Amino acid sequence: MNDTPAPLRVAVLGCGAVGTEVVRRLLEHTTDFSARTGAHLELTGIAVRSLDAVRDPVVPRGLLTDDPAALIADADLVVEVMGGIEPARTLILDALRAGAGVITANKALLARHGPELYEAADAAHVDLFYEAAVAGAVPVVRGVRESLAGDRINRVLGIVNGTTNYILDEMTTNELDFAAALRQAQDLGYAESDPTADVEGLDAAAKAAILAALAFHSRIAFSDVSAEGITAITSEDIASAAQTGHVIKLLAVAEHRHEADGRGGVAVRVYPALVPVEHPLGNVRGPFNAVLVEAEAAGTLMFYGAGAGGVATSSAVLGDLVAAARNRVSGGKAPSESRYAELTPLGADQIHSRFQIRMAIADRPGVLAEVAAAVAEHGVSFETVRQQGLPGGPAELVIGTHEASESALAATLAALDTLDVVLRISSVLRVEGI
Ligand code: NDP
Ligand code: HSE
Repeated sequence: MNDTPAPLRVAVLGCGAVGTEVVRRLLEHTTDFSARTGAHLELTGIAVRSLDAVRDPVVPRGLLTDDPAALIADADLVVEVMGGIEPARTLILDALRAGAGVITANKALLARHGPELYEAADAAHVDLFYEAAVAGAVPVVRGVRESLAGDRINRVLGIVNGTTNYILDEMTTNELDFAAALRQAQDLGYAESDPTADVEGLDAAAKAAILAALAFHSRIAFSDVSAEGITAITSEDIASAAQTGHVIKLLAVAEHRHEADGRGGVAVRVYPALVPVEHPLGNVRGPFNAVLVEAEAAGTLMFYGAGAGGVATSSAVLGDLVAAARNRVSGGKAPSESRYAELTPLGADQIHSRFQIRMAIADRPGVLAEVAAAVAEHGVSFETVRQQGLPGGPAELVIGTHEASESALAATLAALDTLDVVLRISSVLRVEGI
């Protein structure tokens, strides 16, 4: 009797920055994949939009198709690296319903339609894996979902977008302007096909929703995440941060606040923040990502590595492909969605941060007292105050606050805006890592 498992038929949807590298490694290391999974992984086709586009010579032209639906109909495992919501959503649902395991890197889709996809995978008793959807090559999804499944996570804080970290780093260390740094990030394959998702914080927000859902065993949708990007960050902000030993980083922050009723809620946010240069996140350079996970028993863990780029990301995709192939051979299944905690998003009055407010003020006696009164009126208190003259003009006042709620800060800014002595509020940034 021959008990060698039949080959597993693998369909790849998308052959861009990530897909090309997935195909390359799948073809180059085919013997290793067979040995690791117990079955031969046969690449049956690669779906693309344009059959005529110039491609890396590693991609077998005979496997290209512009009919992804036909390709998945005949697959055991489907790798979705085309991105976007449609047709990716329909194709994944069809693949799952037809009994194929799915591996996707598509955080935009998961953050918006995750529950529907999970339910389809469970109904068909097949895998849905998505390690590459958060932090590229860094195995933070598996870490949070599986390694920390026996712990309680209170907070997740991290840099999860390589493009914006690259841009901010280039603006800081090489004094590049925003547009030039973004162009470089696009050329290097870090950015989304529409880089607005990166620079407006939407890509990080999708990843934050995925991580928060895993960490807090609750359904957290993209729409539950408040997102601010980096388009308003100026070279003055970066220079001002450096004066106090900080760098500016785009952070994803997900926290579970425990309330007296024992349940509490979650706050999931993305914003550019001041981070001390000596903080572990302050040292994350270029397109690298790092996620700090604060757990009750494990303490603080840091997941660090390449957060974007086709080559690095292919590692996470192929790791999932091996896991799904092993399950196919053994009859196992990836973990289902865990949402029993049912935590819900908190309101702005329940979410607290430290802030730094930088403003131009009239340079005359009594100004500081007026500003202090406006700030104190809303229960916000100063932690630090720094004033300096601006060349040939007004003074610059930089206030660091103690923790204050988002709603108190909004009221304070509105009050400052009405003061004659405040000429301009130049920037408001949260401060993390203290
Ligand atoms: P690219 O834009 O480089 O590639 C997308 C590929 O999908 C292209 O080959 C394109 O075809 C194909 N495609 C798009 N739409 C269709 C369609 N309707 N039918 C058939 N094929 C289609 O994207 P990336 O490789 O950068 O990203 C892919 C996914 O991976 C996205 O979900 C992204 O968010 C995620 N991701 C990306 C990372 C990165 O660093 N780039 C890191 C982690 C995740 P054609 O070539 O003909 O245009
Ligand atoms: N555009 C994303 C980034 C790709 O820059 O992080 C990785 O998810």
